[in-house]
Amino acid sequence: MAILTVASFKGGPGKTTICQIIAARCVADGLVVSVIDADPTKAMSNWCHDTYEGKPFSCTAETSERSIADLAIGLDEKSDLVLIDTAGFGNLAAAVAMTVADHILVPLTAGAADLNQAEETIKQARGLAAAARRKIDVRAIMNRLSLKTNLTKHAERELLEAGIPTLKSTISHRTSYGEISYSGTIPKKGAAEKEIAELIRELREISWLPKATGQESQ
Ligand SMILES: Nc1ncnc2c1ncn2[C@@H]1O[C@H](COP(=O)(O)OP(=O)(O)OP(=O)(O)O)[C@@H](O)[C@H]1O
Ligand SMILES: [Mg+2]
Repeated sequence: MAILTVASFKGGPGKTTICQIIAARCVADGLVVSVIDADPTKAMSNWCHDTYEGKPFSCTAETSERSIADLAIGLDEKSDLVLIDTAGFGNLAAAVAMTVADHILVPLTAGAADLNQAEETIKQARGLAAAARRKIDVRAIMNRLSLKTNLTKHAERELLEAGIPTLKSTISHRTSYGEISYSGTIPKKGAAEKEIAELIRELREISWLPKATGQESQ
């Protein structure tokens, strides 16, 4: 139904964490979720198979640029959401994962290097969409924010000035997000759960995610 690729040229702004959050939350909401792990480090697929404790979803490790598009299109026919996690160094597999996507989410933290790389990733995404003669919606999401710091305000201003479409939802810097990779669960209470719910709500509002079938939570 929809292919959502999470990409950034820079390593470490939170692609895998955001994939984990979206996949776990959507599958809990009753959607059929299929994940492709296009990162050779296999962080997403190892987490899914060895650590994740929630309702199951499929996760296939596929790093070959020759296979990713066919795999994504095949999974799209039988899933509500295909989510692709990519490597943080802008390889060909990531480019294919961006080109086959309906939507591309680019996480960034508030540092200058992240801003530049997010801008470069977004330019690349737009170039790929133009080459494929497709419309692919690309948006940034701010991660690891320390709310109300000057750095955060500066980053928000820069994104606006650079004309980078950015989700209103943000993900703060919190231990509970850092723990996802070894706890196997996403935050289910408190401020982190609220941020996750808000992110999912916004992604539905902009039609990046289908509506929940309402099995566990909204
Ligand atoms: N909002 C957050 N709060 C606290 N820690 C976070 C947050 N987001 C990510 N992290 C931590 O930061 C590290 C990098 O995050 P993650 O692996 O998701 O980034 P990535 O973009 O997938 O990296 P790579 O490019 O290497 O694949 C991880 O240890 C993760 O647990
Ligand atoms: Mg990763």
